[in-house]
Amino acid sequence: MQFWDFAALTYYRLLDRFSGPLNRLAVRRLGLRPGEAVLDIGCGTGALLPELVHAVGPHGRVVAVDRSPRMVRIARRRAARWPNVEVREADACTTCHGSGEFDAAVALGAFSAMPDVAAAVANACDALRPGGRLFVFDVRLAKDDRVTGLLRRGYRLVAGFTGADVVAELRAVFGRVEPVFAVEGDTTATVLATKAAQVTDAVTGSAGTPCRPAG
Ligand SMILES: C[S@@+](CC[C@H](N)C(=O)[O-])C[C@H]1O[C@@H](n2cnc3c(N)ncnc32)[C@H](O)[C@@H]1O
Repeated sequence: MQFWDFAALTYYRLLDRFSGPLNRLAVRRLGLRPGEAVLDIGCGTGALLPELVHAVGPHGRVVAVDRSPRMVRIARRRAARWPNVEVREADACTTCHGSGEFDAAVALGAFSAMPDVAAAVANACDALRPGGRLFVFDVRLAKDDRVTGLLRRGYRLVAGFTGADVVAELRAVFGRVEPVFAVEGDTTATVLATKAAQVTDAVTGSAGTPCRPAG
């Protein structure tokens, strides 16, 4: 069983309960408006879905993506009452979410857990319309000290962490990347990335990304 499938067994009951403040911060900083389309990348059990649906309203659209079948099953159960929410079981590193289809996207603790962070970030950028925004909270174990080294090793063991620096990958593709907190923690980063208004294929990286339509 994959780590995240295994984690799904306890995730829903345990970690979901503590995600409220971060979820609310994400929705607030994204400035979601009624009628907008939003993408939740690595949605897990869908803890953020109620906030997203509330923000975009009945005329908006929410698409959530996760690779773990168990996480997806729980998220789908949670989303069943909203006709404008779709939960896709897909690998965010290799799947096109829909070019320019989304006004906003969010990835909470998700990119660093993926095997190809650069591809996942490029696919997220490709999914956004020009000027679209992406809220990211993630692990950032870039420091070169003993504690960070131990954390890196532990995270690699349990979740296959590749060592990629999510913030650096965001800076490589997005027009603007700004910290949400003035002082970023040593082990996590919370940022808002905005896709450039004028976009070329070279900027989105979409042409070079191993991206397939979800299906
Ligand atoms: C730490 S959990 C975060 C879940 C959720 N965003 C939250 O805040 O509760 C990381 C999630 O990323 C998903 N994930 C890992 N690799 C993935 C990939 N390649 N494509 C899509 N989802 C992936 C895992 O299945 C897991 O649900």
